[in-house]
Amino acid sequence: MKYLNLTLLAAFVCVFIIDVEFLHASSVIAPADVASVAAVVVDTVTDKPRLFEPGAFEDPKVCSTCHRDIYNEWSKSMHANAWTDKWYQPDYLLAHQQTDGATDLLCGACHAPIAARTGLLPPADGSKFDAASRRGISCDFCHTVSGVGQMFNMGHISDPGEVKRGPRGDGRSLYHEVKYTGVHTKAEFCGSCHMVIHPATGVHIIDTWDDWKNNDYGKKGIRCQDCHMTPTPGVSKKPGRAALMGKERDNLAFHGFVGGSSYVQDEIGNPKQAELSREFLRAAAEVKLAEKVTDDGTLELIVDVHNVGAGHKIPTGTTYIRIMWLQVEVKDSTGQLVYSSGHIDDKNHVDSNAVFFRLLFRDAGGNLTGKSWQAHGIGYDRRIPAKGMDREVYRIPLPGKGDYQVTSRLMYRSMTQNSLDVITERTGEVLPPVVSVEMAAARTNVKF
Ligand code: HEC
Ligand code: HEC
Ligand code: HEC
Ligand code: HEC
Ligand code: HEC
Repeated sequence: MKYLNLTLLAAFVCVFIIDVEFLHASSVIAPADVASVAAVVVDTVTDKPRLFEPGAFEDPKVCSTCHRDIYNEWSKSMHANAWTDKWYQPDYLLAHQQTDGATDLLCGACHAPIAARTGLLPPADGSKFDAASRRGISCDFCHTVSGVGQMFNMGHISDPGEVKRGPRGDGRSLYHEVKYTGVHTKAEFCGSCHMVIHPATGVHIIDTWDDWKNNDYGKKGIRCQDCHMTPTPGVSKKPGRAALMGKERDNLAFHGFVGGSSYVQDEIGNPKQAELSREFLRAAAEVKLAEKVTDDGTLELIVDVHNVGAGHKIPTGTTYIRIMWLQVEVKDSTGQLVYSSGHIDDKNHVDSNAVFFRLLFRDAGGNLTGKSWQAHGIGYDRRIPAKGMDREVYRIPLPGKGDYQVTSRLMYRSMTQNSLDVITERTGEVLPPVVSVEMAAARTNVKF
């Protein structure tokens, strides 16, 4: 059986996107970075990877004949869009440009795994891709995985062919053999891709896996699948058949892999998936207020943000692109705004003085950056841990005696407006403005 040496494809860097909603500068990649990334590529290539033949992995269309519902769910997931995603492509191409192609196979390993494992990538532009490769992370990639060799940068072991591997192994199919592996039912299966480590500097670019493994959910064994392979947030059941002529099951794995990308989902024409995404976001957090007015008329507002529903920090994943922030508004009895923080301006940017929950890297020069391949360290990290909370205290001078209404909202964007502005600057493509999602809110009245 042909076998792919994973450590070869493993290695590498991740993402980028510059973002001034929180950071200044750092757009030029340092030669040292390029050198170290290139060195990793050379190191791994000395041991020549054995790739599979193009066509070794089947087109998901084939699976759709019998697995119709699963196919429909999956085709709306970000996994199906992992390569074609027009919010991914500009970043990937910038990384390509700035590292002289050193990142092509790295990004491709996760975003176009079939192309990366059948030698159709490079060239970086995907011009050699076959139909299966273009469908991102698809059925036959996941269901021919026979093991996980390394818990970061995509350490899956592929064994494509007639045997489709999954969580049960007791079904009968006329088209393929069915085998239980024990891999698909474990969080490791997800974690090996949802953990990105910079190959040269060791910075954790995406840390969802490590985070989960060490928190209460990980310790109790509440898996990624338990929350993300269900049609609703939290653990729930979906009875039915996994295939035409399949057995009736009391709980089927939902393949929508819902996360925070409601903006992208709306834009690519999946309004239902976008709504599911908003449901997930709303299930994740709660905001609680405590307030006091001092004798001199200062409102002391304590805003507590609790992560009640996510099995990892919020936000997680590409948190150097995503943002979560607090909006606080105080209005007098006539409805006049007397204080505001975290508002959105007329260019759709978030008030830069807002309280932000997110992560940014530090580059070689010590500047904050959202370009992951330039990450030499973590520059800023404020996120809410699973089952944990974060507190911010606002001191707001009130303009005079009277009654006031106070509102605090926890807001989310899967991508900052600055990230989009940068894409537009570089490519000329005008992408629709980012839409914010209210994850949670709390209100109270105060008297002075
Ligand atoms: C990102 C990887 C991934 C992709 C892509 C994916 N699956 Fe799955 N699939 C899984 C995992 C993991 C499970 C098991 C979940 C569990 O045990 O909770 C699963 C379960 C299944 C099952 C068994 C369902 C059950 O509950 O009996 C079938 C059938 C299946 N997948 C078919 C498909 C088909 C067809 C596609 C493409 C349309 C697809 N999968 C795409 C990861 C994937
Ligand atoms: C001719 C119909 C047919 C086609 C085409 C088909 N399957 Fe299946 N598959 C089935 C049936 C039937 C089952 C058994 C379902 C059951 O009883 O739960 C099954 C089960 C599975 C399982 C579950 C394994 C487990 O652990 O139980 C996976 C995974 C799977 N198929 C993947 C695929 C993939 C990937 C493709 C496309 C490359 C595909 N199938 C194409 C009919 C088909
Ligand atoms: C081959 C690598 C790979 C595997 C395996 C994988 N993922 Fe992903 N996942 C990705 C990539 C890449 C994206 C981002 C795609 C994009 O937005 O362009 C993603 C996105 C997601 C999202 C975000 C969706 C959103 O709306 O923002 C969720 C949730 C998710 N995956 C869950 C899972 C779960 C659960 C598993 C395990 C059953 C899993 N993934 C396995 C690579 C992988
Ligand atoms: C207890 C349920 C739960 C578990 C367990 C869980 N998640 Fe999540 N996840 C959520 C919720 C709710 C959200 C939506 C909030 C958000 O977007 O941060 C989410 C969001 C995400 C996102 C979107 C990024 C973001 O912050 O917007 C990704 C990617 C993701 N999860 C991957 C994973 C992976 C991988 C695992 C396992 C290692 C996992 N999740 C375990 C509930 C869970
Ligand atoms: C080890 C797997 C892995 C590698 C390698 C990887 N990514 Fe990702 N990427 C992911 C996962 C997982 C997500 C989804 C995280 C989330 O939803 O927050 C993602 C999401 C993204 C997104 C956000 C897409 C969107 O629609 O929001 C961009 C952009 C991106 N990656 C760019 C890159 C680039 C550029 C590279 C190469 C330099 C790269 N990635 C390498 C796993 C990977």
